[in-house]
Amino acid sequence: MNRVYIKTYGCQMNERDSEAVAAMLRAKGYALVDNEFDADTVLLNTCSVRDQAEQKAIGKAGHLAKRKRKDPNFILGIMGCMAQNRGDSLVDRLPDLDLIVGTQKFHRVPEHLDKMIATLQGQGPRPDTIIDLSEEVGSQNTIKSHSSEKKQITAFVSIMQGCNMHCSYCIVPKTRGAERARPMEAIVEEIEELASSGTREVTLLGQIVNQYGLREFPTINKKSPFVQLIEKVHEIDGIERIRFTSPHPVGFRNDLIECYGRLPKLCEYLHFPMQSGSNRILKTMRRPYTIERFRKIIEKIRAVRPDVYISTDVIVGFPDETKDDFEKTRHHFEEIGFDMAYIFKYSVRPGTTAESLGDPISKEVKEERNQILLGILSKRSLKRNEELVGTVEEVLFEGPAKKGENMFLGRTRGNRVVLVKASPRLIGQFAKVRFERATASTLFGELVLEGVEDIAVQAIT
Ligand code: SAH
Ligand code: SF4
Ligand code: F3S
Repeated sequence: MNRVYIKTYGCQMNERDSEAVAAMLRAKGYALVDNEFDADTVLLNTCSVRDQAEQKAIGKAGHLAKRKRKDPNFILGIMGCMAQNRGDSLVDRLPDLDLIVGTQKFHRVPEHLDKMIATLQGQGPRPDTIIDLSEEVGSQNTIKSHSSEKKQITAFVSIMQGCNMHCSYCIVPKTRGAERARPMEAIVEEIEELASSGTREVTLLGQIVNQYGLREFPTINKKSPFVQLIEKVHEIDGIERIRFTSPHPVGFRNDLIECYGRLPKLCEYLHFPMQSGSNRILKTMRRPYTIERFRKIIEKIRAVRPDVYISTDVIVGFPDETKDDFEKTRHHFEEIGFDMAYIFKYSVRPGTTAESLGDPISKEVKEERNQILLGILSKRSLKRNEELVGTVEEVLFEGPAKKGENMFLGRTRGNRVVLVKASPRLIGQFAKVRFERATASTLFGELVLEGVEDIAVQAIT
């Protein structure tokens, strides 16, 4: 039996794609392993969003290629965004690659792997690299399989693929193609199945989720297709928590804001990318909103759900980001008070419209700006966590913690990480926890024992 290890770089969509490929491979009789050393085949699911992400995967592939030279039956493949972005030029750099599979062809990985194994076993000359990068109508509908072996307490569900925005810095529209939505019924069916096998929390995934289905499905009673979808998911028994990522400020309208006031399963957590606090920079980034509009949306959400936790993405060191521009970012970042944030140092992506602006901001300045925002974030995050010490909240337990005997990891509805000493019986359960201690990233607590039955809270009110 061929044993496959999939290593995933990049975003949650990539994680989800890897999961789906793993499920498809298992269904075909492949064994999935969790490290490269036990594997006969290694597939790297790659990311192109920043240069560093590409370099990491190229470095790894170069390293694995050495093993391939010693063991000709070892199979090495690159899938996902970097495969799509760099195309067959990857073979020039890494001639030992067996497979290069693009973002619209994940579902064909098992077939390509079967073919490669059969050819290698045929003892003929080394087969050419299989390169499959073309677009495929309906490919958004192929990312739907989940592992039947492992119960997934919390699951990602891809609701769409691609992006039609043209943010000037971003490679994703090139790697993922145009926006394509999956039908609502198919998504609901997938989540119903997940729920019946024990999933309690779903995160709906797309590059720009609030645009979901705008071209494919009608607006009904002033509700966008995305809001209609959330409502349908909300009705599924067994699903107790709903999250989504990422929405765009453009098209974040009242119908979606109101969901936070009326749909209790929609968690009080929102990832809401700001990118910059300077309107001048937002304009060159081709993000068609102002910081005032961005803040207005947050204000409205906080009006209907005051305890909401908000995270964001910010790019520092975008070309021509002056001291004054950064000061605006710093100011708004601090005033808004994000609970979590991913801060990225600008990286030029060949082929994007911002490429022509070069990369005039030095590494040192980018790092300095990065550190300033990180400092603000950790203060705010610590304060928010410290305010929770002494209170009790419901936590959904996902699994054992990385460190510590009998320590288990869970999350609050606000997506705060919680570590608790408990027994494995808790995995997949909701349990009440009293928080005793906090760091900026983690809450430590103790189970509130109300009798074993009471631990599993079935419904959130
Ligand atoms: N679709 C999502 C973002 C996907 S990429 C959205 O629009 O919100 C994730 C994040 O990577 C982006 O939000 C942005 O902050 C960052 N990013 C994208 N391109 C980048 C680049 N060239 N350099 C640095 N960061 C980048
Ligand atoms: Fe990239 Fe912008 Fe699309 Fe997000 S919305 S994926 S940042 S182009
Ligand atoms: Fe990277 Fe592709 Fe995601 S470029 S961020 S893996 S969509």
